[in-house]
Amino acid sequence: MDRAWWWGVFLGCALPLLALVLWAATGDLGANPIETVVRHLGDWALRLLILTLALTPLRHLTGSSRPVRYRRMIGLWAFAYVCLHVLAYVVVDIGLHLPTLIDDLTKRPYIMVGMAGVLTLIPLAATSTKGMIKRLGGRRWQRLHQLVYAAGILGAVHYLLMVKADITEPLVYIGLLVLLYGIRVGRWVAR
Ligand code: HEM
Repeated sequence: MDRAWWWGVFLGCALPLLALVLWAATGDLGANPIETVVRHLGDWALRLLILTLALTPLRHLTGSSRPVRYRRMIGLWAFAYVCLHVLAYVVVDIGLHLPTLIDDLTKRPYIMVGMAGVLTLIPLAATSTKGMIKRLGGRRWQRLHQLVYAAGILGAVHYLLMVKADITEPLVYIGLLVLLYGIRVGRWVAR
């Protein structure tokens, strides 16, 4: 049963990537394929990041510990989507052109904020193994992993700063993050 759940969650996380590969193979990436790829990967990075944050409140709500068992896997998938998103932009979109990258990093606030999000995620991915949890100690590890909230907010603000017209979607993500953070703070205060 556990194995079936593991595979279900794994395939669920892999599905957006498989869809992208399928669209690329069938020439279904639309009029601007590079933009479609960068945006699709960014969307799923953010969605999975938010899902990771929703798992603990879900455990409190349902009383089942099952959701949190897959937190590490979903978190690592989110990180994989972030890496692919950045790679698609740096390699495919701007063709590894360093001056453009430096220009974007210094002049486009949404790229700066996105980069700050990536930088907060790196220590989390690097300490995601059982060995690292042991080495850091549970409390320190937990404190460090609260950075995931910052990464989520930075990812959503990066999206908000990027869009020029309809800001509904990034606002929904920011609202969800505020709600999830609020639930956490509420429980902490109640304790
Ligand atoms: C935590 C890290 C990040 C997350 C969660 C994230 C997420 C997103 C999201 C949700 C979008 C909008 C997708 C849409 O329009 O549907 C986006 C767009 C984009 N992101 Fe990121 N991103 C991150 C970091 C970065 C970094 C570091 C870079 C560049 C170095 C970057 C470059 C871009 C670009 C170029 C776009 C599309 C802009 C356009 O099409 O006009 N992102 N990202």
